[in-house]
Amino acid sequence: MARDRGEQNREWYATYKDDVKKEGKGFFPYAMLHDTIMGFVVVLVIIGLAIIWYWDADGVEPGVLGPLYTEPADPGTTDFVPRPDWYFYFLFYLLRIFEWPETVVIATVGIPTVLLILLLGLPFYDRSRERRPSRRPVAMIAAVLTVISMGVLTYKGATATEALGSELIVLVPEWAEEKGFADNDNAVEGARLFAVSGCLNCHIYLGSGVGALGAPDLSDVGDRYDQETLVRYLTNPAEFGNTVMGSYAYLGQENLNKLATFLDASTSDDG
Ligand code: HEC
Repeated sequence: MARDRGEQNREWYATYKDDVKKEGKGFFPYAMLHDTIMGFVVVLVIIGLAIIWYWDADGVEPGVLGPLYTEPADPGTTDFVPRPDWYFYFLFYLLRIFEWPETVVIATVGIPTVLLILLLGLPFYDRSRERRPSRRPVAMIAAVLTVISMGVLTYKGATATEALGSELIVLVPEWAEEKGFADNDNAVEGARLFAVSGCLNCHIYLGSGVGALGAPDLSDVGDRYDQETLVRYLTNPAEFGNTVMGSYAYLGQENLNKLATFLDASTSDDG
């Protein structure tokens, strides 16, 4: 006859209390003393390493524990695409899956919050005392699926290519050939600017780029706007109801003209 779970739990609990009384040691002072001593040791090691690092390094000359400081960061750089540390690659890739602006909140807040609540609630909804993996199919499958999906997302995040200017600029001759502006110097220079200005971190052009945040494919953008309108668009995207894209007025009028010439030459009437 199967006994009910409550009765079995009470029995287990009584056995446990009995064992503690016979063989165990009290939390105070035994466990507390161990933890306190170990805590001090860890803090002392960290302080020691910090002292060695500080005294051994001489400015940018590295000591055994690395340099004191490196070159200051350049806030004006346009060809640096920030990447997260490896343990955030899974979140980084999750964000790429939800590329439409309205759904970004699902990847940044929604999914992580749901998973965290599930994790915090684990002791409350998983009340089984069974420890054998073979008797816990649901928990085992959930754990394996979690590990696999985190692994896959981390891998995808690590190998995801960035729309980095220096990688894209080599495509300019190809673009010029395909769109037939190779003999228009202004358009070619505009294409180079386009490649290094981070446009392809949002847009797609002839299959390159990201297609994020609802930015349209610009391969045939010359069909939709003329050169003058494009200059105005890049100077003040908000005027065209575009609040996602920032103004590129800082590139200067001459560069904007070249960029617009390139975009204007990008029509579906190739060649
Ligand atoms: C942060 C993302 C982002 C970046 C970076 C960006 N754009 Fe955009 N751009 C957008 C979005 C989103 C739209 C669409 C807005 C809309 O539909 O109202 C857009 C629209 C456009 C349009 C109008 C396209 C059309 O068919 O209506 C042009 C032209 C354009 N961008 C050019 C550029 C150029 C050139 C650069 C680089 C100098 C650039 N964009 C960089 C997000 C971006």
